[in-house]
Amino acid sequence: MKTFGEIALVYISVLQCLCGVCMPHLLINVRNQGGDILLETISSNVTDDTISLEFQRSDGTLVTQLVDFRNEVQVIKALVLGEEERGQNQYQVMCFVNHFYKMDFISSDAMSKLRQKNPGTIRIAEEDRGHSNYTMDLFLDVSKSGVISKHVATLCGEAADTTYTRNDDLKQWVQRPGSSEAALMATARNFTTTPVTQQAGNESKPVSLPKCADTSNLWAPCTCSLELCIGWYPCGLKFCKGKGDGKKPASSYRCGIKTCKKCFIFSYYSQLKQNCLWDE
Ligand SMILES: *[C@@H]1O[C@H](CO)[C@@H](O)[C@H](O)[C@H]1NC(C)=O
Ligand SMILES: *[C@@H]1O[C@H](CO)[C@@H](O)[C@H](O)[C@H]1NC(C)=O
Ligand SMILES: *[C@@H]1O[C@H](CO)[C@@H](O)[C@H](O)[C@H]1NC(C)=O
Ligand SMILES: *[C@@H]1O[C@H](CO)[C@@H](O)[C@H](O)[C@H]1NC(C)=O
Repeated sequence: MKTFGEIALVYISVLQCLCGVCMPHLLINVRNQGGDILLETISSNVTDDTISLEFQRSDGTLVTQLVDFRNEVQVIKALVLGEEERGQNQYQVMCFVNHFYKMDFISSDAMSKLRQKNPGTIRIAEEDRGHSNYTMDLFLDVSKSGVISKHVATLCGEAADTTYTRNDDLKQWVQRPGSSEAALMATARNFTTTPVTQQAGNESKPVSLPKCADTSNLWAPCTCSLELCIGWYPCGLKFCKGKGDGKKPASSYRCGIKTCKKCFIFSYYSQLKQNCLWDE
């Protein structure tokens, strides 16, 4: 194997993998903006064509990101610990399901071939991809989510009433080969002013709620916003130039990865401001 100097992660050959050197996942120490060190676990499943990444923030929030390349789906799940002294539940789980562009992450196959040279190293992403705002305008019915991706139900079973998506994402998934628009539309519903039981025969209308930060009633619904940052992920491949031998031009080969950081700001319907006390 060639040596890659400072490059953090290197490809191993398929042969090494067959000889049992393969590990099921990578453990990466990441330094975040606040200076804390987070331990990220990244694994891939080539059969399913998925990558999953998980870490716990220093405030205890457990964040899981799953990318399903085949179905162009990203699921980000947040398990947020409650403040019991303020009357909150022990924890709450939210799931955000969005359309995913293949270009944002390296493939599951490339991911499965990565190994770290120095596992203890504390890593910082090379490129900051900034913040993306996701205004989640739909509730997603987890029990019907199989038409979007089978992984939603696996990951979001605990978030039956708090799994969200967007009209924009449904429009993207409708473009997938073999998709049924009717089946996709049936998985989701707009937020409405009237309770579900009173909706029979009526068209549901999206409503704009006050931001949780702007309301003082702890028992009123409001739009909560939650920022989740993926501090380090492999977002592209690096190519190195081989030495030409004078006659042949230099060829390039994959010699490492590019790493990125990305933050998501999810705005979503919260049944109670009480469940969104960080948004003040
Ligand atoms: C990968 O996915 C397949 C199909 O869902 C599953 O059978 C297998 O156990 C998974 N492998 C790992 C390592 O999780
Ligand atoms: C995202 O929202 C934040 C505030 O919620 C705002 O400051 C920022 O400009 C927005 N970014 C984009 C790209 O819309
Ligand atoms: C939500 O409401 C918008 C605007 O009324 C509509 O275009 C959209 O189809 C609705 N989405 C669903 C899933 O019902
Ligand atoms: C739908 O709701 C509106 C406002 O609550 C009401 O005026 C209208 O009659 C309802 N329509 C049906 C078909 O129930």
